Amino acid sequence: MTSSTYQGSKNSSQETGTQPKDLPDPIRWENGEAVIIDQTRLPVEEKFLRSKNYRDVCEWIKSLRIRGAPAIGIAAAYAAALAALEFGSRGEIDARLNGALQEINDTRPTAVNIRNILARLRKLDIRGRIVGEVFVREAHSILAEEIDSCRKIGKFGLELIPDNAVILTHCHTGGLATGGYGTALGMIRAAHEAGKKVKVFADETRPLLQGARLTAWELKKIGIDFRLIVDSASGITMKKFKVDLVVVGADRIAANGDTANKIGTYNLSVLCKARNIPFYIAAPASSFDLSAKSGDDIPIEERNPDEVTQFRDCRSAPEDISVFAPAFDVSPAENIAAFITERGIIRPPFVKNIAKLIGR
Ligand code: MRU
Repeated sequence: MTSSTYQGSKNSSQETGTQPKDLPDPIRWENGEAVIIDQTRLPVEEKFLRSKNYRDVCEWIKSLRIRGAPAIGIAAAYAAALAALEFGSRGEIDARLNGALQEINDTRPTAVNIRNILARLRKLDIRGRIVGEVFVREAHSILAEEIDSCRKIGKFGLELIPDNAVILTHCHTGGLATGGYGTALGMIRAAHEAGKKVKVFADETRPLLQGARLTAWELKKIGIDFRLIVDSASGITMKKFKVDLVVVGADRIAANGDTANKIGTYNLSVLCKARNIPFYIAAPASSFDLSAKSGDDIPIEERNPDEVTQFRDCRSAPEDISVFAPAFDVSPAENIAAFITERGIIRPPFVKNIAKLIGR
């Protein structure tokens, strides 16, 4: 694996996709290599990593160097392509490639995007063909489709964002968490680009601070008016600043609408219910899992306790203590006002309407 430090904030040239305006691409394909911006280094350093080895891409996903459900789905597609090229697979998914696909599948358990995209690759017609080439082409299509989906989510979401809206969001759902542009942040961005005035409150998102490090970084680059808050300030923020709506992304949406997203999202959904504030989920079709009947069927990743007891090299809790470190939680469908997808807005009753729009 090689790395480089990004010089300047302008869009880098790429062979795949286009990240709008001045944000770097979350992932691209260049000279037969996968290239990502290392999200763990942001906002301090814009450092790019590149590799031809699918094992590096697996490590990038596990360590959150690339993160966000749609982005890790795309990374999984490129990892699969690299594995197929390395093994010289032709005409079939042989045992070695199968093992690699399993490794990619097992990198992170909650986001269904990885599994949906690997299932899509497995269904391709590869008879008599070099599998790596077929997978690379498909990964390019997946990246382009995910960017397009975000743009459409932004457009559909416009009607839910009034002018002068005060919006609260959690974690990071922008260009770097997707193929580009973003889901929940894409909706906010679309409203801003349509000339609506928006004021955003961004949760810092303990313990890994995706909100502070990435959402704040991206909103600042785009030029959207925002304030950063600690997660536990969301209640007082809703009251004091009359938050109009909360919009977040998703890692996996069950058939009944129960939604897994970054830890702390469930708390927000309950606050919204108590305060009668619409709580929206913005996510592409690739984040739905209709085989999960409810949130009980969604596996919740637990992270290394060190992520809670220290930040980078700085310890913030005593050594040798017991920690519970879920990375995600599930917001129940009854707390959700609507889903904004690239196919349109889904409102209750969710079982029927999700099946109609996503299950087709
Ligand atoms: O652990 P992370 O940073 O990958 O978690 C990401 C989230 O929970 C996002 O909100 C979700 O993936 C939506 S990204 C458009």
